[in-house]
Amino acid sequence: MSPKSDDVLLVHGGSPLHGEVRVRGAKNLVSKAMVAALLGDAPSRLYDVPRIRDVEVVRGLLELHGVRISEEDGVLVLDPRNVERAAVDEINVHAGSSRIPILFCGPLLHRLGQAVIPDLGGCHIGPRPIDFHLQALREFGAVVDKTPYGLHLAAPSGLHGAKLRLPYPSVGATEQVLLTAVMAEGVTELSNAAVEPEIIDLICVLQKMGAIISVHTDRVIEIEGVPRLGGFVHRPLPDRIEAASWAAAALATGGDVFVRGARQADMMTFLNVFRSVGGAYEVDDSPGGGIRFWHPGGELKAVALETDVHPGFMTDWQQPLVVALTQARGLSIVHETVYEQRLGYTEALNQMGATIQVYRECLGGTPCRFGRRNFNHSAVIAGPSKLHGSDLTIPDLRAGFSHVIAALAAEGPSRIFGVDLIRRGYEDFEAKLLALGARVER
Ligand code: EPZ
Repeated sequence: MSPKSDDVLLVHGGSPLHGEVRVRGAKNLVSKAMVAALLGDAPSRLYDVPRIRDVEVVRGLLELHGVRISEEDGVLVLDPRNVERAAVDEINVHAGSSRIPILFCGPLLHRLGQAVIPDLGGCHIGPRPIDFHLQALREFGAVVDKTPYGLHLAAPSGLHGAKLRLPYPSVGATEQVLLTAVMAEGVTELSNAAVEPEIIDLICVLQKMGAIISVHTDRVIEIEGVPRLGGFVHRPLPDRIEAASWAAAALATGGDVFVRGARQADMMTFLNVFRSVGGAYEVDDSPGGGIRFWHPGGELKAVALETDVHPGFMTDWQQPLVVALTQARGLSIVHETVYEQRLGYTEALNQMGATIQVYRECLGGTPCRFGRRNFNHSAVIAGPSKLHGSDLTIPDLRAGFSHVIAALAAEGPSRIFGVDLIRRGYEDFEAKLLALGARVER
């Protein structure tokens, strides 16, 4: 299939990014808070919502279920007072575009007694199963059937609190449990839960709605079900993935970017690595502040890093940073332990002149669940390499942004196909690039 001509970005690389960008509410919280609004019996108000496609997808699905939504200047008002069943064929219009629909299970079961969930989309970075989700829902009392049009769920005897343990601290499965347990009868105890800042912020949203949730040490979350929830008013945590992407772009291009809205507390692990590589940053804590990231001159240094669940180095920070690591002197090692197939994009970087070798072994850290299996999930990056422009096709959201960074850092022009994918998670990214002095055009 030939790409649409307006889905191609022409990048004239080789000049440093300079200036300021602003990040808004985190994609991976905003979309979940929107689903949480479905549980309330009163309207909710969400501030600082970015204009990205994942938000549009969730909005479309909520509206199909009778939620009235209005938006003005980044403020979403969601009114769930007339929730209703949606036609199956209409639900399937949303198939293949996002993974958030799986989180509608609990809220729809509470509101309507049944749920129809389309086949899931999202980035192709591994098989991305939903077994933890389905197992948890069954333990709450849901009956799950796989049908040709997606999943059908019912709760003939209602939903009841349960004692659950996740095999791995999955972000989505933890959110599934939270969104189901808050109104299930009785107490739920979830062990081995994910505790990413986006999850803690979702807990804040649910608590504002009337939920009773305690986060204990050692990844245990306890939820006491309540019979009703109201609305919320919430300002989300800033998008720490987008912030790190711009930081990596500043470093890889030898530039200087102030990321307004970025917050130190959510990015500590990234900041440590950024400094170890040789990047400089300065935190502005004043209201409306952010973090300035820049290349201080001299050579960047190779590092060894391992992606992990929070408080580890986020898997979504990996791809943008690897582009900067192609400019560091020596051998950097990256061990990806969250997704088994998140290094495929390095081929494109090699095509541009990088020297990156991928391995099946767990390199440079603790053995992970992908060791001894047939997954290339470790990378050795030899640098510094001179990157040159190339034709690139975007494989997934974060890898896509890393392709853009590589093209900006490279000498000569690059054509990037499939850039619309980046709109899933980066608001106005072309306008932001232009504001930073990048030479890009559709
Ligand atoms: C969320 O995905 C994010 N997406 C991802 O960001 C992020 O990379 C990921 O969490 C990890 O931080 C959203 O929030 C929408 P997981 P999620 O369940 O919830 C395995 C981006 O670019 N697993 O924590 O889908 C899974 O295969 C995206 O913004 C199972 O085996 O991630 C993976 O190896 C990409 N069975 C690991 O757990 C399950 O039922 C972690 O996945 C569920 C997950």
